[in-house]
Amino acid sequence: MRQPLVIANWKMHGKSAFNEALVTEFLALLKAYRAECALCPPSVYIEQVAGLLRSSNVMLGAQDCSHIAEGAYTGEVSAEMLRDCGCGWVIVGHSERRQYHQESDALLAAKLAMAQRADLKPVLCVGETQEQREAGEAEQVVKTQLQGALGDLSDFRRLAIAYEPVWAIGTGLTASPEQAQAMHAFIREVVRELDARSAESLRLLYGGSVKPGNAAELFAQADIDGALVGGASLDPEAFAAIVSAA
Ligand code: 13P
Repeated sequence: MRQPLVIANWKMHGKSAFNEALVTEFLALLKAYRAECALCPPSVYIEQVAGLLRSSNVMLGAQDCSHIAEGAYTGEVSAEMLRDCGCGWVIVGHSERRQYHQESDALLAAKLAMAQRADLKPVLCVGETQEQREAGEAEQVVKTQLQGALGDLSDFRRLAIAYEPVWAIGTGLTASPEQAQAMHAFIREVVRELDARSAESLRLLYGGSVKPGNAAELFAQADIDGALVGGASLDPEAFAAIVSAA
């Protein structure tokens, strides 16, 4: 039985006062829940959010990490630094980083290795664009992303994978539960070819316009083990409802 996992990706949103109100209200609303849960604020707020989460079971994560351990790399933040600041999770290969920072699968493989070395649990994001889906290429695109990023990974046990169809991110369009389930089952098969031992225990998250109104039917699918939530994670009531639905 896989424990559900729900991760908040705040993206480039937040400010000290907003963060404090958001986290305080979210924790107050969070009642009985079974899921593992983590918040990923912008890196400058990681220490603040670490303080706010101190007396809760909610974990802390980062939205990205460097592919290099240490050195003269202005502006970069290493996996080791994130671990040092209390992060347990790190998002790797979000489509916005692939798109705006030209992150390749080879670069993501290096980031995953760094995360692993620093004892951070990575969430690798994969997903196709609208054009790729319409051209019937969705599965091949996702398979190439998985093989490119995971080919050299030595330990799959701490990994999670998020399927985030690019056309569903921030658009209000969600993959139907059936579409999402079909791709999740496909991802589990691809992982089985890479590491047969971990495929069953690997947690696969869906991301793309997850809201309280669609979370339960997504989570009811056999291979959907949780969610990576953008916009709705900035609303304490909405995010608490999604975590409770998992
Ligand atoms: P939205 O939930 O805003 O669609 O964002 C999804 C996402 O990109 C999470 O990483």
